[in-house]
Amino acid sequence: MNVLAELRRRLAVVLADFTENPADFASMVRPAQDPKFGDFQANCAMPLAKRHGTNPREVAAHIVDKLDLTDLCDPAEVAGPGFINLRLQDDWIVERFEQAFRDERLGVEAAASPRHVVVDFSSPNVAKPMHVGHLRSTVIGDALNRILRYLGHDVVSDNHIGDWGTQFGMIIYGYKNFLDEQHYADDPVGELARLYRLVNQLSDYHEAVRKLPEQESLLAEKQTRLDELPDPAGDKKAKKAAKKLRSEVSEIQDAIRSTKSKIAAVEDDADLKALADAHPQIARAARDETARLHAGDEENRRLWDRFLPQCLSALNRIYERLDIHFDKTLGESFYDPFLKDVVENLQQKEMAVESGGAQCVFIEGNDAPFIVQKTDGAYTYATTDLATIRYRVEELNADSILYVVDSRQSEHFKLLFETAAKWGYGDVELKHVSFGTVMGKDRKPYKTRSGDTVGLESLLDEAVAKARQIVDANDDAKRDGPELDEATRQAVAEIVGIGGIKYADLRHNRDSDYIFDWDKMLAMTGDTATYMQYAYARTRGILRKGGVTSEQLQQSPQKIVLTHSAERSLALKICRFEEALASVVDEYRPNVLTQYLFELANDFSTFYDNCHVLKEQDESLKASRLKLVDLTGRVIARGLSLLGIEVCEQM
Ligand code: ARG
Repeated sequence: MNVLAELRRRLAVVLADFTENPADFASMVRPAQDPKFGDFQANCAMPLAKRHGTNPREVAAHIVDKLDLTDLCDPAEVAGPGFINLRLQDDWIVERFEQAFRDERLGVEAAASPRHVVVDFSSPNVAKPMHVGHLRSTVIGDALNRILRYLGHDVVSDNHIGDWGTQFGMIIYGYKNFLDEQHYADDPVGELARLYRLVNQLSDYHEAVRKLPEQESLLAEKQTRLDELPDPAGDKKAKKAAKKLRSEVSEIQDAIRSTKSKIAAVEDDADLKALADAHPQIARAARDETARLHAGDEENRRLWDRFLPQCLSALNRIYERLDIHFDKTLGESFYDPFLKDVVENLQQKEMAVESGGAQCVFIEGNDAPFIVQKTDGAYTYATTDLATIRYRVEELNADSILYVVDSRQSEHFKLLFETAAKWGYGDVELKHVSFGTVMGKDRKPYKTRSGDTVGLESLLDEAVAKARQIVDANDDAKRDGPELDEATRQAVAEIVGIGGIKYADLRHNRDSDYIFDWDKMLAMTGDTATYMQYAYARTRGILRKGGVTSEQLQQSPQKIVLTHSAERSLALKICRFEEALASVVDEYRPNVLTQYLFELANDFSTFYDNCHVLKEQDESLKASRLKLVDLTGRVIARGLSLLGIEVCEQM
């Protein structure tokens, strides 16, 4: 049961006497910040009184008077300027706990009206390096996928891979001109990645050589203007102008530095320089290869058919290891046959119009047009995304589509959603579940050492190796000597290492950037997967020592008893599992669940510090506490599994 939702529902009934939109005011019930105010607190009386020009305490008293919570709460209290404090009855908590205890779903009800949700996540551009940003999309998207399903929604997880873009033209060009056959035979994906990087580097080089003189003359111009600026003295405006100019100069200097380093990287290597000279038009040539592929050129199509499965198998290795599975992998190429029709349809509806030779949709209030066909006739990322929406709604019956994509694409999604609404999909929930950048300690976007899929794999290896040290140290330090054999230690390390990486991606508010930090990520205490995994293993250890199993406890008719505030807090927290899951999907924020689990693990720790379990003399109290221990463990394990994180019975 969703406790908070139930309280809000009951309050809304009463608030109908005071306002047209009772649900809005009822949503002002919140978990209390301090236990001395009860379990929940409503502060709706203040704004309501203000509206009616009456006394808030009187309004609160009136609400309390009418509120029917006798089966749920102790009598509500009015406090301070008009807060309504609610405290759940212990008996009610016990009943809810018991119900969750026997329930396979741990007391979480399935949605009464399930929605059809498509979750678009991971979606890397294959054949291009997959980076930690794609990892974050993968981890967040997978968690949302699991949680929505658990709540009873109909979910399709869809990996919208970029398998039709310019990177294939680059690889095809590379393959035709620079192939290392031996390397390709030994490690096809490695060779394709090398070809991609090589073609990219050569075309970057030519671009840099072309750009450098422009940048330098721009710098000279700004520098002259700066030199000629009269001494601003006390003139605020002039000072500001000088400051702006100085910052522009330093920006251009940075850009020139980066241009020069691209040039040097090639010119310092005689072989590379020779290749660059032999392929002066490489960027255009690679674009032509892409165009030929799109136009159905037989050879390019054959190469694409060969490369794609190779790229996918490299990706799948990572997904396997992360235990991530997709219902569908409908990449950009899948939508290619529909693009022509999309543009024609938009033209018929007079939504797409010609502008400078391109087909554009103009959305009111936006300067940039949404380009659906370029001057050269090529369709775009935008066209594909429109075709994708149509397919997901018409064929997959989606009434909600979530895009778990980097916040840097927010402009694209804004235009996409507005265009789609105008196009006839206004009823569909289209949501950009955006996320910030993973940063290194230098506060620049985090890069794996080789910056590609291989890099991502070695990142996972590194996590497991570091986790192994922690597992070893912990096991070696056990009071009665080590408990784990070699194979178990390694299995635990895999679970702790991978879990640690996933948890770090999930626990931060998804909008914010965060700093990738191994030590924080794998720490035994604090808001980490490791801490939660240990808490779970501890609950299993207690049951083992106590000589009971979870199944046996579930058979026993004896109910829990709440004798200590720590028992009560823990039991109540357990009853609020559904509330936590429901608020995750309110705004698609997995960190609401990590926060819940962290609080649960902390409540468990407080309980265990304050209440004897195995040493308890009173047999019925001992049995009650074992039940608390058991269900705490099961909720932690279920919660973590909904985040895609595993647990171990023993650590
Ligand atoms: N392939 C894109 C990228 O790596 C992400 C695709 C996201 N999904 C979508 N429907 N646009 O940037």
